[in-house]
Amino acid sequence: MAETDGMTAPILSPRGSYWITTFGCQMNKADSERMAGILESMGYRAGDDEHSADLVLYNTCTIRDNAEQKVYSYLGRQAQRKRTNPNLTLVVAGCVAQQEGESLLRRVPELDLVMGPQHANRLDVLLAQVEQGQQVVATEEHHILEDITTARRDSQVCGWVNVIYGCNERCTYCVVPSVRGQEQSRLPDAIKLEMEGLAAQGFKEITLLGQNIDAYGRDLPGITPEGRRAHTLTDLLHHVHEVEGIERIRFATSHPRYFTERLIDACADLPKVCEHFHIPFQSGDDTVLKAMARGYTVERYRRIVGRIRERMPDAAISADVIVAFPGETEAQFRRTLALIEEIGFDAVNTAAYSPRPNTPAADWPDQLSEAVKVERLQEINALVEQQARQRSARYAGRIEEILVEGTNPKDPQQVMGRTRTNRLTFFPGARADGRAIEPGELVTVQIEGVRAFSLSGKLT
Ligand code: SAH
Ligand code: SF4
Ligand code: F3S
Repeated sequence: MAETDGMTAPILSPRGSYWITTFGCQMNKADSERMAGILESMGYRAGDDEHSADLVLYNTCTIRDNAEQKVYSYLGRQAQRKRTNPNLTLVVAGCVAQQEGESLLRRVPELDLVMGPQHANRLDVLLAQVEQGQQVVATEEHHILEDITTARRDSQVCGWVNVIYGCNERCTYCVVPSVRGQEQSRLPDAIKLEMEGLAAQGFKEITLLGQNIDAYGRDLPGITPEGRRAHTLTDLLHHVHEVEGIERIRFATSHPRYFTERLIDACADLPKVCEHFHIPFQSGDDTVLKAMARGYTVERYRRIVGRIRERMPDAAISADVIVAFPGETEAQFRRTLALIEEIGFDAVNTAAYSPRPNTPAADWPDQLSEAVKVERLQEINALVEQQARQRSARYAGRIEEILVEGTNPKDPQQVMGRTRTNRLTFFPGARADGRAIEPGELVTVQIEGVRAFSLSGKLT
């Protein structure tokens, strides 16, 4: 044991450097931060080069085929390196790992560990098996234990907190339920405790995460005297709102089928909850929505947005949409475009439909051609950008509250942060008296420049 000022400190066995590349959604990014924390607690240090690190971990995504293929090309290069450097530890985590399991080992025999997302908190246990010389595959359904690991977070200002893992929906295009498993909600007090810990470390903004965050609590027991579920996202927002030091709360992803008026009211009433809602609509046509098994109509979506804007007129609305779903006609596609125009989204993530393993829509006969996919994607992207530009225009000349996240990577003289409505904003990083503006500060900025997806201005 090493002695430091009479206190004993555990010695970490030095294990070399690690590198993590993360693909996919915020859920994966949050998992990567926890896995990085585990690696550091084991004695690994963050490396600065993917091609010389002693342990390389790819946290993978399989939402569309191109996301999956990307991993194989990355892996090919590392497998080659391993042939000359047998001490390299190669790990594939995340959704491709879960989907492919053992067959990934057959495809890339150089792999040491293949682990699904439910095993992220067990990385140390699994690596111990690898160190004993085994090739390990961990993809069995696993109850996610309360998070006892300390994440190594990329930002010191904005943190992610998982509130529900998995998804019980069965959208006919989507691979997530088969790779992320059944819904598992964390207990409200565990979530609050994690947020208090983050607040104590200086974090100012928390995004609560779930694939379908509106499902939060439906797997937890209890009903209220009024006969409601005891645990809902609305109740959770009230519960965590009092965490001192946290100034902003966001949540994602919302599902229009379950998004309630109670939730909208809570967002309007609770000052820390930001006026930004990410509510994917996927299609502007009811027949397509039905084929997708989304469980709502376009009219319901309109009503949700209407209600949000009634209570929070300046709220930003963003969404995801899929074009060229099997059988989507030109007229149905036009309805999606029309809905985008009607709503006026601040941002929309667009994607062409990609057939995924173990999903019903992949087997349907009326798949659309690559040419139609490309054409529709281009048309919708142009509209989305034009809409975003129009929405950005409303900020010109306004004074906005910005939470500073860090330096603009493209200009060290500038800092960047976000409005409450989630617009990225750049401005000079020093005050008039020369004092630097630090990450974590809430400042007011006069907006001068407006672009489709970002703003710029100066400190007031
Ligand atoms: N849980 C969220 C989104 C999860 S996946 C929801 O319910 O909306 C993120 C986005 O990827 C989806 O919103 C959808 O727009 C897109 N996506 C999912 N599966 C896809 C597929 N097979 N092809 C193309 N896009 C897909
Ligand atoms: Fe996929 Fe639907 Fe679940 Fe979202 S709600 S993760 S789209 S199955
Ligand atoms: Fe991708 Fe898995 Fe997220 S498939 S989008 S990383 S849940």
